[in-house]
Amino acid sequence: MLRTACRAGWCWQIVQRTYVPRQYVARREVQQSSTDRRLLLSTPIFYVNAGPHLGHVYSALLADAMHRHRRLVLGAEDPGARLCTGTDEHGLKIQQAAAAAGKDPLVFCSEVSEQFKDVFNHILISYTDYIRTTEERHQTAVEHFWAVLCRKGFIYKGVYEGWYSTPDESFLTDSQVMDISGKRGNTVKVSTESGHQVHWTKEENYMFKLSEFRLPLLKWLENNPCAIYPERFYDVVLQMLQEDLPDLSVSRERNRLTWGIPVPGDVTQTIYVWLDALVNYLTVVGYPKAHESWWPGAHHVVGKDILKFHAVYWPAFLLAAGLEPPSRIYVHSHWTVHGQKMSKSLGNVIDPMDCCNRFTVDGFRYFLLRQGVPDRDCDYYHEKVMKVVNAELADALGGLLNRCTAHAINATQNYPFFSSACFPRTPGLFEKEALSRVTAEDYKLLEFVECLPSEVNDHYGNFQIYKAIEAINVRVKQTNAFFQRHVPWKLDRDNTADKLWLDTILYVTLECLRVYGILLQPVVPTIADKLLSRLAVAPHERTLKGFQFLARYHGKDCSFEGRKLGPDTGILFHRLERQNLHTKQNMSL
Ligand code: ME8
Ligand code: MG
Repeated sequence: MLRTACRAGWCWQIVQRTYVPRQYVARREVQQSSTDRRLLLSTPIFYVNAGPHLGHVYSALLADAMHRHRRLVLGAEDPGARLCTGTDEHGLKIQQAAAAAGKDPLVFCSEVSEQFKDVFNHILISYTDYIRTTEERHQTAVEHFWAVLCRKGFIYKGVYEGWYSTPDESFLTDSQVMDISGKRGNTVKVSTESGHQVHWTKEENYMFKLSEFRLPLLKWLENNPCAIYPERFYDVVLQMLQEDLPDLSVSRERNRLTWGIPVPGDVTQTIYVWLDALVNYLTVVGYPKAHESWWPGAHHVVGKDILKFHAVYWPAFLLAAGLEPPSRIYVHSHWTVHGQKMSKSLGNVIDPMDCCNRFTVDGFRYFLLRQGVPDRDCDYYHEKVMKVVNAELADALGGLLNRCTAHAINATQNYPFFSSACFPRTPGLFEKEALSRVTAEDYKLLEFVECLPSEVNDHYGNFQIYKAIEAINVRVKQTNAFFQRHVPWKLDRDNTADKLWLDTILYVTLECLRVYGILLQPVVPTIADKLLSRLAVAPHERTLKGFQFLARYHGKDCSFEGRKLGPDTGILFHRLERQNLHTKQNMSL
């Protein structure tokens, strides 16, 4: 009932138990999150038990594109957006991984954390903060946060008894586990959600009064119907809150878990790794001293596997500490590989560095952002990357640039002059003078491209980056069709009417390309830079602040007319060949 209502565009209002059309609620929210508010974007902080893979990179890329897009809107000089990422280095899982590697835990963590940083630098993640939970500033923040929770009476000592999944670092109730048959025919208890084995634990721990937060959390969701994107995950969280919430164990006995932050004032206990980890979002903005200019305003990008931690535990901890919950939680689904879950034991873990070698950094970025859909799992295979980037980056975008900048057609290598007589603002105005050869489709194209920045903006606001890229790609195709339709290579430069029309076609095409180049910067920064440099667009002209499209068409001065094109005439994106699919590793993919 609930889900059907939401799919039909209606939003369940929890407290009043009435239906309100979702579109009204959404409109209210969009106004609230106006761009003048400071934006703190985050990725999850990743466990260092193993190195980075495709999934981690995907989360980081989504957050990176959101961050770059926000900077595009704000203008390069505006410090109103930041992006934090980093590594989650405490807990049983890391303690065990370091022991298995025979290394001192901190040495082990430093090595793997560096690997994440290297990969993120390589794929151009524009992070402004890289946090490690083993840093002193973080320990200070966690200790302070803990003290606040205690002072406010939300922590008490009790006995915890229940299931624990170490790979997920998660406590589970009876209804969240199931029996499966193990390799040797024995029965194994696993988490229903993750499939990881669970163990029974009974300890004296510190407990957090999570049970007191069911109604406040429902209220928070009611007042913020767009707090969790996409909508499907908002409904999942509502569902989690339909039942009573048990109190949560927030510490472990120190003799079992030594690798973590000790509970202040009780050296026999270690703080639960998820409480420790979530506080990283406050640490980066200077909690407890200097967080106020950035909090609230957090937008967290997370995988669906850690939804409960971010949409139930985290807002509850924050409310308990007297702070506001995050503004947005953007949830994405998972990548599978040839239909299977990525896992070390199956040997199908996709190495992002290997992918960048095969497809280039921008090619790989483009594919993941273009093909990844937050609502449902997506399947990865190398062949698909090649097809998508060849068709869209090499042929469509690269082809378009090549067509309007090639020496054969643009002999002076200039951004040419636009003729209003050839392309009048009012259709049909100059028809009698036989100068205008514009068609209704051409006017449509201009209208579409004119709206593209705001269309793209809306898609980013809804965490649908793939739709933003799709919209750009459709316009690129339409611009190619515009060029094709008017066969400019057949025009005669020595004929005045032809020359004016040819220059106008080139001007319009270059203007469209300028829009695509600017809007594609968050997705393919290197290619966009190359494109914009070829179009002689200076660095300070590459944001959407004060952006003008087709100034001359609108009767304004255009500073691009007559400008010399950039000198790099190289191919924008080289088509990938089949050999890119075959490296020594993963031949079968
Ligand atoms: O959970 N497809 O860290 P983690 C897409 N340390 N994304 C994937 C993925 C896949 N197949 N596999 C993983 C933790 N991810 C905690 C987080 S935050 C305070 C603490 C991504 O190393 C996805 O974002 O297990 C997922 O949520 C995250 O990696 C989990 O990374
Ligand atoms: Mg995980």
